[in-house]
Amino acid sequence: MSLDDKIDATLAVLRQATQDFKHVCFANSLGAEDMVLTHLIAQHQLDISLFSLDTGRLPAETYDLIQTLRSRYAVKLHVYFPDAAHVEKYVAEQGINGFYESIEARKGCCYVRKVEPLKRALAGKGAWITGMRRDQAVTRGSLAVSAWDEEQGLQKFNPLLDWTNADVWQYIKQNDVPYNKLHDQFYPSIGCAPCTRAISVGEDIRAGRWWWENPENKECGLHVRRER
Ligand code: ADX
Ligand code: SF4
Repeated sequence: MSLDDKIDATLAVLRQATQDFKHVCFANSLGAEDMVLTHLIAQHQLDISLFSLDTGRLPAETYDLIQTLRSRYAVKLHVYFPDAAHVEKYVAEQGINGFYESIEARKGCCYVRKVEPLKRALAGKGAWITGMRRDQAVTRGSLAVSAWDEEQGLQKFNPLLDWTNADVWQYIKQNDVPYNKLHDQFYPSIGCAPCTRAISVGEDIRAGRWWWENPENKECGLHVRRER
């Protein structure tokens, strides 16, 4: 399938989602894939709201991109923060960087800083959209473009599922889409600053995320594998 065909297919999925559901929202991590979706939604003025989860530990470059998005596009990005009391409790019990200690401690931090805010972001929404691609990770091979998300009780769309990394970058360059400057420093996948590092030649594109863990564990809880 050519890139133009993939763009058409993605737009068709986004349009269909807005026809079938009210209050469709897009979870925007500001990663390269999500900037493609941001551009498509803004360019075609699709009735899809955008939100981002600011964990409080994002890299400076991601905040720069949030600001650039605001000046470049006519869409609004709603930024959600973690509950302050929950973060304080976590830090008191586990330590400010307690997430390095164990997988449970790491998932606990992701829960407080991402999963709980995601639930608030999705409250009252009719469906949600992500920028996940199939070939990003072993955990994403069996995803569908549209599936019922049992965890959130919402239909979930992954309209870039069949795009390759090369497709994403071709689109970004051709359309002059703004992107996170860390991508130019060997950070193909970007999350929180303390849990993301650069990769070296030949490493998997998510090798820099939670690099001290096994690939099977590398999900933060935003995307639970109970989808059908
Ligand atoms: S993660 O789950 O391991 O962090 P990844 O960075 O690959 O995932 O992002 C996958 C998708 O999850 C993104 O395309 C986006 O839809 C959603 N997502 C991840 N992090 C955030 C965030 N901080 N805010 C909003 N959506 C996010
Ligand atoms: Fe916490 Fe790291 Fe998860 Fe961010 S990615 S919420 S800092 S454990």
